[in-house]
Amino acid sequence: MKLTIEPLTPLIGAEIKGVDVTKINDEEFADLFQAFVDHSVLFLRNQPQMSAEQHRTFAQRFGEIHIHPAARGKPAEHPGAMKMRTNSESKVAAGNRWHSDVSCDAKPPQASILQLHQIPPLGGDTLFASLYAAYDALSDHMKVYLDGLTALHSGEEPFRHVFRFEAADKSARWPENHHPVIRRHSDSGRPALFVDREFTKSIDGLPKEEGKALLEFLFNHVERVDFQCRFRWSENAIAIWDNRCALHHAMWDYYPEERSGRRVSVVGEAPVAWHLGSDQIPTSRFAAAKLTI
Ligand code: SIN
Repeated sequence: MKLTIEPLTPLIGAEIKGVDVTKINDEEFADLFQAFVDHSVLFLRNQPQMSAEQHRTFAQRFGEIHIHPAARGKPAEHPGAMKMRTNSESKVAAGNRWHSDVSCDAKPPQASILQLHQIPPLGGDTLFASLYAAYDALSDHMKVYLDGLTALHSGEEPFRHVFRFEAADKSARWPENHHPVIRRHSDSGRPALFVDREFTKSIDGLPKEEGKALLEFLFNHVERVDFQCRFRWSENAIAIWDNRCALHHAMWDYYPEERSGRRVSVVGEAPVAWHLGSDQIPTSRFAAAKLTI
C-alpha cells in the first residue's frame, strides 16, 4: 500500500497514513523521507508501540543515532533511546521552550523521532515552527545584514541550570559551538534561520547590546504563529521533525497528569552557511543517492 501525505498547513507539517514504521520497506522509506524534506515535520498515528530497539532501527534509516550530551560516557542498554516523562513530580518538562534539539552540538541532530506512549486526557500538544518560512519572511535589508553572521549555541544554561543533568565527567563544560545564523539545509538546499531561544546565546562579532537586541528580534520572529503548526497527540502517535529547519515547543499545560514516551534523534551535519545568491541544490547523501537507500 502506498503511503499518503496530508499537509497540515501550507508551510509546515504533514500527516502520513498507510505505513507501519516497524515494517517500513525501502520504497516506503524513500517516500517518507521525501515527505520529511518537503514538510519539515511528519505525524503518524495508530502506530504499534515500538520497543526501544525497533525505535532505534527505524531511526537508523535516517542516519547515525545521536547520543545526547547528558548520556555520553554512560553505559546504556539502548544507546540514544531517551525516555521522556513528565508527571506531578516533575520540576521541568523537556522541550517546554522553543528550540532545535541540542543545537549546541558540533553536529546537531537532523531528525528527532518521538513516540508518546501515554498522553494526558487534555493538553500536551507539540508546536512546530518553520525556519524556512522565518527566513523567507525577513526583509531584504535584514537578509543582507544576517548574511555571513554566526552565533554561539551553548548547552550550559539549559543543561546545567534548567535540567540539572549530571555529566559523566562532572568537570566538563556542556557543548558550545558557533553555527551560521542562516543555514543551508543539505537535503533541500534551502536557507533556514537557525536560531533558538534555548541554546543561541550571542551573535559573534557584534557589540553586545546590538547582538542582544538582534537575537531578541530573531527569537520573536521565528516564534511567529504564522510559521507554525500544532500537533494534538494520540496514544502511540509518532512525530518526526527536522531540527535543521524547524523549531518545536512542547506544551506543559497538563499538570499534574502524566505524559511519557521515547525519543531517538539522528546525527546531522555541522551546519553550513547559506549566502545570498547561493543556489538551492541539495547536497546530502540522500539527495545524491536519489533516496535509494
Ligand atoms: C522535545 O523533544 O523537545 C520534546 C517534545 C515533546 O515532548 O513534544
